[in-house]
This record gives sequence, C-alpha cells and structure tokens, in this order.
Amino acid sequence: MTTPSEPSHALGSLGAAPPGCPAHAAGGPDGVQRLYGPGASADPMGLYERLRNEHGAVAPVLLEGDVPAWLVLGYNEILQVTRNPRRFRRDGRAWSPWQRGEIGTDSPIAPVLRWGPDCTHQDGGTHQRLRGAVNESLERFDRRGLRRYVQLYGHQLIDRFAAEGRAEILAQYAQQLPMLVLTVVLGLPEEEGPRLVEASRQLLIGTEKAVSADRYIQQALTDLVATKHATPGHDLASWLIAHPAELTDEEVLHHLRLVLVAANETTTNLIVNTLRVVFTHPRFRGSLHGGRMTLPAAVEQVLWDEPPISVCPGGFASDDVELGGQNIRKGDILLLGLAAANADPAIRPAPGAPMHGNRSHLSFTSGPHECPGQDIGRAITVTGIEVLLSRLPDLRLTLEPDELDWSASTWSRHLVALPVEFTPRTRTERVSLVPPAPGRRSARGRPRPAPRVGADAEESATAERSSFWSTLRRRWSRAEDPTDGVERTGGRRSR
Ligand code: HEM
Repeated sequence: MTTPSEPSHALGSLGAAPPGCPAHAAGGPDGVQRLYGPGASADPMGLYERLRNEHGAVAPVLLEGDVPAWLVLGYNEILQVTRNPRRFRRDGRAWSPWQRGEIGTDSPIAPVLRWGPDCTHQDGGTHQRLRGAVNESLERFDRRGLRRYVQLYGHQLIDRFAAEGRAEILAQYAQQLPMLVLTVVLGLPEEEGPRLVEASRQLLIGTEKAVSADRYIQQALTDLVATKHATPGHDLASWLIAHPAELTDEEVLHHLRLVLVAANETTTNLIVNTLRVVFTHPRFRGSLHGGRMTLPAAVEQVLWDEPPISVCPGGFASDDVELGGQNIRKGDILLLGLAAANADPAIRPAPGAPMHGNRSHLSFTSGPHECPGQDIGRAITVTGIEVLLSRLPDLRLTLEPDELDWSASTWSRHLVALPVEFTPRTRTERVSLVPPAPGRRSARGRPRPAPRVGADAEESATAERSSFWSTLRRRWSRAEDPTDGVERTGGRRSR
C-alpha cells in the first residue's frame, strides 16, 4: 500500500483526463493529486468528489512544494480523527517532512502547519490548560453586548455607501465587519484592524507573503500584550493575561494570533456566502421572508454547503493505522476535508439537500479542538446580515450568479467580489445604537453584573480604547502595509 510519505500512486482516471481538464492539470509527481495551484482551485468540490470516487473516504494528495498528505473526505472518518487525539496528535513536531528538513521556513504552508505554543498544536493536559483559558476568556464576553457592537459597526459601514445605490458588499461590508468587532474582542484599536486583517488573510490564503504577514502579526500582538500588562481592559488580551492558568506572554501572544487568524476570514466568508445564497436563490430569500426559514437556519444551511474553511489540518498519526481503507504511517499528516465531509453521500441524501437548521455539520470540526468561537462567528454573521437587509431591503446582485468570480487556496474557497445595487438611502440617526461595554462574566462562566452600563460605559470604553490607541499609534506609526514584504521587528521595520 502507498502512503503520502512515499507517493507512488498511479491515478489511472486522472492520467486519462483530457488536456485542459482541471483534474489533469492538478496532477503532481506520480499522478498524485495536488491540492494547490490553478488545477485544484478551479473546482475544489469537483476535485474532492473525483478523489472520493477514486480513493474512497481518504485520499493521497500533495500540498505546496509537493509535500505528501492524506485528505480525509468522509464524515465518519473525520470524526474518527478528531475524536481520537491519542491516535491523531496535533503536535506536528514528529511530522516526517519536518524531521527530514523538507519544509523550509519560507514555505507557504509553514505558518499554518509549523508547531507553535497555541492550543491548536497541543494534546492532552497541555491542550486542556490552554483551551480552558481561551474558552473561559471568550465566555466572559456578553453576547448581547457583542451584538450591539455588530449593529453599531454594521450601520457605520452601511452609512458609507447607502447613498450611492451601489456597493461591493464583500470589500465594503463583509470583510470589514468581523474585523471591527474583533478589535473589540482582542483589545486592539479599531484603526489597526485593516492591516492585521490583510495580514491574516495572506496567512490563511498561503501566498508567498504569508511568512512576512505572520511576522507582522506577531510583532503587532507583542506590542498589544505589553500594553495590556500596563493598562488592562475588558478584552481577550487582558483576560488571557490574568487567567489562573498563568499563561506566559508568549502563550498569550500566540492565542491572540490564533483568534485573529481563525476568526476573521472565516466569519467574512460565512457572511458573504450567506448573502450570495440569499441573493441568488429566490426560494431561499422567499423562505426567509415567508418565515419558513429563519436567518440562523439559513446560516446553518450555508455552513453545510459552503464551509468557510474547506480543509484544515487534522493531526499527525502517532502510529501506523488504517483509516478509510488506507494504510496511514506513523508521522503522516491528515487534513480534514470539511467541505467534502459535509457533502458525504454516507450522511446526506444529496449535495445541497435542505438540513432545516441541523447543526451537525463539520464546519467547526469536532472533538477537543472544535472551534470555541463558533457562537461569536454566528452572532456576527446573523446580526450583520439582519442589519444590512433591514437597512437596504431591496438589495440585489448586479451580476448573474454564474458571473461571480471565486478564488480558492488549499484551505478555503471564497468569492472575489459581491457587487450589489439598491434604492439609495440617506444616513439615519441612531442614537440608541451606541453600545455599552461588552460586559463581563466570571472566569467560571457565571454572569457578573456589567461593571459599567449605558452612556458612561461607552464613554469609558471609548476613552480606554482611544488612550490605548494613542499609545500604540505613536509606536506603530512607522509600520507599513504587511503585505508588501516589509516586516515589523521590535517596533522597527526591516527588509
Ligand atoms: C464562522 C466563523 C468560524 C468558523 C467557520 C471557524 C472554524 C474553525 C475551525 C474549522 C477550526 C479548527 C478546529 C480544529 O482544529 O479541529 C477552528 C478553530 C478555532 N477557532 Fe474558529 N471558526 C470561526 C470563528 C471563530 C471565532 C469568531 C473565534 C474567536 C473569537 C474562533 C476561534 C477559534 C480558535 C481559538 C480555534 C482553535 C481551537 C483549538 O485548536 O483548540 N473561531 N475554527
């Protein structure tokens, strides 16, 4: 039996594909399927289905640099991986290509797969300690408080284009909103959001800018941790620093980076994918308006059909093991094919079949590493779309659905733009939308009375954020666009 460690597959049907066929173009050495490049990104779902037909629930594939990996396409097989952390460990230091020195630090897959001290790369007791700190700190955010920030920022963004009658909803709304809310969550000044968002996108997309973008994020968050030690606030950075698990500064920094990268692009994708479906499927919009489908149920349907992360790292075999009919060798990497698993014929009658609000999709995975921020992601998505559709109820696409452009990487597929038009509106007065401070819960999850309420709280929170920002703005004023290859080191720039 062949393995990703020593690929020698003869993928007969791929070899026979006609010239120009994406399947043919995506074939790597020995005919093993590349999971990257134009051949793979043209039609990822089609690619997953071909792999499923060819290999079953687990298929050999190649990552950037033609690094071998296993792609798990089966729903039940993903559960076997995610719920067996002893057999499939997250600590990738034992991964064979690392150990053989085959992946350089400048490889585009290095920032995603390189071991780090955050909970994603840990197992057992270490994972529980770190994940406990993340869970309990995220639980301290009052969800209603966060929803009001979503409303506030949503209206502010709509105000910028409401009078135009046209907008590009991805760039002008879906990419901005989660980032603005995340600056509140992380404790960052909102003005810094766009650069960090762009850097985290480069990281997730895995371009050649991924490495410099990663360094930029690390330095910005190092500055944030230092500031929050001096001036704690009501935010994730301060709560992680103060958590009884006593995280080191390096651990705090890596978890802030993790949340930034894991939360923003995913929530953007979920907003825009849900809007696309609302615009392009009249029956879907009709169901929403007719009250047959609620917006949360519609979001769940999109999570089944178009997960924000299509593929995510799933672990490294701690021993030789059989999975889905394949012989996995010790040290091999397994990738979770979340989009493929959600469409697995073993658990779904047909791709796109209505799921009626069922939440058992794998878009947040499962097991000990299942996404701890999923309710925050859902809250930003649902509230953000509610605000948009209530302000601009006749919002419609300016293109035909099949004219929309998509872009895909190994890890995700996303729309390039979502151009819309609507009846122009004037800016509205919304004095009542000024949100209170996000509110707090105790570290054990028991609600605490919010320390500050109403206008005082907002003034106080704003003052806290702006004085923090003033300090950082001075410190960061020389930083450049993280995507231009310029790296931030110790507050200075170097090329
Ligand atoms: C719709 C939006 C989101 C989607 C689709 C999503 C999806 C995911 C996925 C697939 C994972 C990987 C789980 C694994 O490794 O098995 C993950 C992990 C994670 N997510 Fe999310 N996420 C979303 C929003 C958020 C938000 C808003 C936050 C924080 C505020 C967040 C924080 C995290 C963290 C900390 C992890 C690492 C957990 C661990 O390894 O133990 N995510 N997310």
